[in-house]
Amino acid sequence: MAALTLFRSREANAFQEFIMEARTWWATELFPRLREEYEERRALAAREGRAVKTADDVAQLFERSTTYAYFCWLERHVQKSKYSSSRWGLVAQLARESGRAAERLAAAGSADLELDPAFKVPDYYLAHDIHQHPGNMHADPLAGLVYEASALSIHPATRRNELHERFVDVVRRESASAAFAKVLDMGCGFGKSAVPLARAFPQAEVVGVDVSAPCLKLAAADAAAAKVPNIRFRQADARHTGLEPGSFDLVTSTMLLHELPGQAVEETLAETNRLLAPGGVSIHLDFRADDPFWQFIMYGHGVRNNEPFLEPLLRMDLAEAYRKAGFEAVRIEPFAEREGATDPSNPFWRFPWAAIIARKPDRSTPTQET
Ligand SMILES: C[S@@+](CC[C@H](N)C(=O)[O-])C[C@H]1O[C@@H](n2cnc3c(N)ncnc32)[C@H](O)[C@@H]1O
Repeated sequence: MAALTLFRSREANAFQEFIMEARTWWATELFPRLREEYEERRALAAREGRAVKTADDVAQLFERSTTYAYFCWLERHVQKSKYSSSRWGLVAQLARESGRAAERLAAAGSADLELDPAFKVPDYYLAHDIHQHPGNMHADPLAGLVYEASALSIHPATRRNELHERFVDVVRRESASAAFAKVLDMGCGFGKSAVPLARAFPQAEVVGVDVSAPCLKLAAADAAAAKVPNIRFRQADARHTGLEPGSFDLVTSTMLLHELPGQAVEETLAETNRLLAPGGVSIHLDFRADDPFWQFIMYGHGVRNNEPFLEPLLRMDLAEAYRKAGFEAVRIEPFAEREGATDPSNPFWRFPWAAIIARKPDRSTPTQET
């Protein structure tokens, strides 16, 4: 692994490298052992006439499993140390190097960025330290930089930015049947999803919205520094953005839906539909888990990583929610964040990504009788 240069302090960089290595070991060594143990315990249960059909059945199989206990402990505590270790955690270290951070954020001043001083951050957002990020991503001016640094170790064994590049590939594929001249990226965070879209579609006008001012400042500063001309950022709630109805050909998000309470997911899908022009396309990237083992792993991940809305999203009938929001031709496709990731023989831990692709009906196109 190339040495990290997040900070001036060699010790702080070394600590974050250790965090990444620990998480990679957890994903590529410990998780395959857990999976093997699951298969053994399931085979034993089958011999005893017990079927494993639900996440609760899987939980019973793992009762008194040391491997599972260690898997959970490591997942929770590596993440906690990454952010909150008092000596080298991201929050403490970025505060120590805040001068350098301020220099980087200064470029936001010259960017197309609209923050709303009266903006009301949603209550659900204030109620949880999502990802175990102290204070979540809204209050501390350095919170966008903390999230950016933290994101380096979210997807072990995946090349940096690869997931978002592959997401753009999905968008490109869909653009073969639709021109995307105006694109909205909801929950754009520090720009990791919106900027690659602006680069991939240089003729398009891309708007990134998020509730987090610190993330938006970082997104705007980086886009300005990289001279990406066709992007602007707005502080807005994805549930009701205040943007013009019917004004976008494409509305996207990556990793937004599972951070929203159930009703907010429905409102966000309704807003997506409202913002799209007739025939417009929506592509939201999030998680689906049909297999009881993965449901169990993901429900637990929601608890261990302070993501209380993850399990409700996984339990939601998303295709139905899309139809209720006015969409047609809803497709939920497994999404590979790297080559071979969705191959059933892949033994490593990963998020069970899915791209949810849907179209707003174009009433001017006669629907085909079946
Ligand atoms: C997991 S992050 C993903 C960020 C980015 N899309 C990426 O792929 O790196 C989820 C983002 O959704 C934002 N968010 C949460 N609730 C939101 C809402 N109601 N409206 C807009 N953004 C929201 C958060 O501030 C956060 O930046």
